[in-house]
Amino acid sequence: MANETIPHLTAFDGAALDAAFSALEQQARAAAAALDGEAAIEAFRLEWLGRKQGRLNDISSRWLKSAPAEAKKALGQRFNGLKTVVEELLDAATGAGPTDAALQAEALDITLPGTARLTGAEHPITRTMNEIVSVFAALGYSVGVGPEVETDYYNFESMNFPPGHPARDTQDTLVMAGQERRPQRDRLLLRTHTSPVQMRTMELQPPPVRIVIPGKVHRNDAQDATHSPIFHQVEGLCVDTNITFSDLKGTLDHAMKALFGSSVKTRFFPSFFPFTEPSADVQISCIFCGGKGCRKCKQSGWIELLGCGMVDPAVFAFAAQKQPAYDAKKISGFAFGMGVERIAMMKYGISEIGQFFAGDMRFLGQFV
Ligand code: PHE
Repeated sequence: MANETIPHLTAFDGAALDAAFSALEQQARAAAAALDGEAAIEAFRLEWLGRKQGRLNDISSRWLKSAPAEAKKALGQRFNGLKTVVEELLDAATGAGPTDAALQAEALDITLPGTARLTGAEHPITRTMNEIVSVFAALGYSVGVGPEVETDYYNFESMNFPPGHPARDTQDTLVMAGQERRPQRDRLLLRTHTSPVQMRTMELQPPPVRIVIPGKVHRNDAQDATHSPIFHQVEGLCVDTNITFSDLKGTLDHAMKALFGSSVKTRFFPSFFPFTEPSADVQISCIFCGGKGCRKCKQSGWIELLGCGMVDPAVFAFAAQKQPAYDAKKISGFAFGMGVERIAMMKYGISEIGQFFAGDMRFLGQFV
């Protein structure tokens, strides 16, 4: 069969040889272009380079032998040229070397615009929360978390807001539907503060305790520039023997200086929380005007930042139901809770709390 594909050569002048070889080269190129799959490539190799039946072998045995002596050199050169072409076609087909077309397809056009890959970054709330936590971690506090869906007992009752207590109205929240048949203490709600994790921590661990608790909280508050029905807090609890209000003051004064700069001053104002007694609101000297009075601090020179106080003995009594070592006669402690959004707004000069939750990349991109 192979023999039929090699025409009989009658003339051996240059033009006749060129014509004969270029016809063969064209056939080889056409066949190579149509190759798909390993079997086809192997068949092509056998057809052209096969030792016994291959076309090149045929050419060599039939044309070279019958050629007049003076034409053998010209014929041999063209034969080698054809052999090189066939070998290159095979290389290209087996992927040994890329074809021009393949190279072009892969070529990098450096004049095209690149693919931009956005780097992820911590959300400013997460970042602020981590910053607050690390200030206390450096003081030896550990970090705890608790559930966002909380029971009435942990969120309110054990924090000394008995059922019907008016302070509950200041922390209205979403309550799960269809719980009428459950005892009130077991009813589920979205926690209004991180304080219930104080109780969860004490129930699991006898004193001493030094813990900070970052987390998300929910309240039925109308949204405005500084209020959001969902926000974040970092809670703190320290219980040991002989913990005094001075320890509380010293700890929070240090924390505020660590967060806002060493020139910041703190002052403590009497306040009320059911779970601390005495309770205080902490104010820091205005970081915008240095205390002179400006619009941000409503000309007072002070900004209110967090709530705190000495743990109420009634709270220890609830903890003592599970851990008797929380005996208010033997131990004492302080607690504090701060709003993360409020601190982040001050640190970064943000005037709309809604910016944190809108997901607008023009805002978030500034924190990369
Ligand atoms: N849980 C209080 C609130 O959300 C803050 C607070 C925590 C106050 C701990 C005193 C002690 O308003």
